[in-house]
Amino acid sequence: MRLAKAADRLAGLGSDKWAVHIEGRRRATAGEDLIFLSIGEPDAPAPRAILDEAYKQMLAGRLRYSSGRGESSVLEALSRHYTKQTGRPIGPDQFLFLPGTQTALFMAFKSILDEGDEVLLLDPYYATYEGVITAPGGVPVAVPLDPDNGFHPNIAEIEKAITPRTKALLLNSPSNPTGAVFNAAEIKAIGALCKKHDLWIVSDEVYATLIYGNNVFVSPFFDKDLEERTIVTSSISKSHALPGFRCGWIASSPEFTAQALSITETMLFGSQPFLEDATALALDSHFPEVDAMRHAYEARARLLIEGLKSCKTVSARMPEGGMFVMVDVRKTGLTGEDFARRLLAEQKVVAMPGESFGACGAGHLRVALTVDEKQIAEAAKRIVKLAESLL
Ligand SMILES: Cc1ncc(COP(=O)(O)O)c(C=O)c1O
Repeated sequence: MRLAKAADRLAGLGSDKWAVHIEGRRRATAGEDLIFLSIGEPDAPAPRAILDEAYKQMLAGRLRYSSGRGESSVLEALSRHYTKQTGRPIGPDQFLFLPGTQTALFMAFKSILDEGDEVLLLDPYYATYEGVITAPGGVPVAVPLDPDNGFHPNIAEIEKAITPRTKALLLNSPSNPTGAVFNAAEIKAIGALCKKHDLWIVSDEVYATLIYGNNVFVSPFFDKDLEERTIVTSSISKSHALPGFRCGWIASSPEFTAQALSITETMLFGSQPFLEDATALALDSHFPEVDAMRHAYEARARLLIEGLKSCKTVSARMPEGGMFVMVDVRKTGLTGEDFARRLLAEQKVVAMPGESFGACGAGHLRVALTVDEKQIAEAAKRIVKLAESLL
């Protein structure tokens, strides 16, 4: 039997990127003791009150079909949250509640792309981005980011990649994998460029609560002038350590959400009311666990970087946000892929090759900060050990 072209387009976009992680899992199942730095899954427990709220609402009968857009509990909470964040009124009609950022990204591109439309994505980029663009018939166009500029954007490079088929730019700040947080001037310049060329901005803000040092989170959605072309995607997966809840959303203009709603309803027919109520509580509350996670990742990043300092051939910049550190292994003479494979085989540490995130991730390892300080310190020692054995 013949499947749709979309299935062919997506085949092969996934598993080879995860080959080192999958090999790590195989070895762990066979009894090897490994340090896993490969997956961006929060290791802290979720705030208990959110779980209690979900349970309470389940027992209270919040188990019926939800409205396609989302329950008023969560739409009102999102409205309060974004009104506070942007400093202007953002109505409940500006959201679509969806199962996680991943679905929100899928919905965003399904709603704006026609076959052959191009989407600019800044390379290195999150592993599923090519898929969410390709699935509805879009064409991902990678724009290089320079590792020696901390993976920050070069506006002229972005503009060079724009063609008459360019429909959108996909932004991810704080970035997975690079840890870059784009500053206000960069967001302004990107916004102006998208306005000039009439492009959508899809802004994946799933790491917005994880900002380090003096960096500040800035979204194109903060600018009223960019609202009509901006589609924010986010969730409580990372902020509240609840990836299994699959609770996320789109924030955009009332016009966009009204039109995209018909696609959402066709696909989803509404999320789970008790989880929507629990998400409302997450958005309306200030849980110390959220700050504690940020502090823990930041401390782990510092520890990792400190642990690599003695080595002349590997180095890393302090991430400005997010959950990852990019370790530069170019001076070892190995590719990121080869370094990751040898790190697994010889040092029993599982990290992602930078190449899994695009050509500009080459010669890097992406380290997830989702294990405790003891393991981070030990992993740093083993990375240095491998690098020094190559001298
Ligand atoms: C950049 C980025 N976007 C989206 C996602 C998916 O998040 P969610 O659990 O909200 O679907 C992830 C998960 O790792 C991510 O790193």
